[in-house]
Amino acid sequence: MRIILIGFMGSGKSTVAKLLAAKLGLRVVEMDEELLELSDYKSIPEIFEQKGETFFRELELQVAKNLMSVDGIVISAGGGVVMNKLTMDYLKENGVTVFLQTDFNEISQRLEQSDNRPLFRGINAAKKLFDLRAPLYEYYSDIIVETNKLPVDKVVRDMLKKMEAKI
Ligand code: S3P
Repeated sequence: MRIILIGFMGSGKSTVAKLLAAKLGLRVVEMDEELLELSDYKSIPEIFEQKGETFFRELELQVAKNLMSVDGIVISAGGGVVMNKLTMDYLKENGVTVFLQTDFNEISQRLEQSDNRPLFRGINAAKKLFDLRAPLYEYYSDIIVETNKLPVDKVVRDMLKKMEAKI
């Protein structure tokens, strides 16, 4: 089984992935961590600064390809995976995609302190990116789960209910 969590930065993918994986006896794969391991860089901002976004998206595609042969995992995807159709095609292969839907206001509050996200450095630019991506998350998702003001265990419960209903 493979579950792929998608959604904007700050939508809670990593936190939800941990609880979900624990409940289902699966392993968590953080795409950003896999990607760093593939690269010679120490941090995501460093990759963006030195090589740019296109290079980053290529690494992301490579990670998605590598994960095609791995089963029994919850994949916490980077917020930008939906920018590359090929990456999404690989991720969706034999997997269920879940979109963690969160309002921009809540996201901007959650990310106020974050300095590890090169694409969330100005509220206006981030909002534009959010609006651009919102329809893509919907398009690529098999299931949509709302996360606004909800504790993580409630999000996971809602997700499992929706997954059961689909099977
Ligand atoms: C990105 C989201 C980040 C990370 C990189 C680019 C994006 O992951 O992959 O900074 O384009 O939205 P998170 O969604 O885990 O913050």
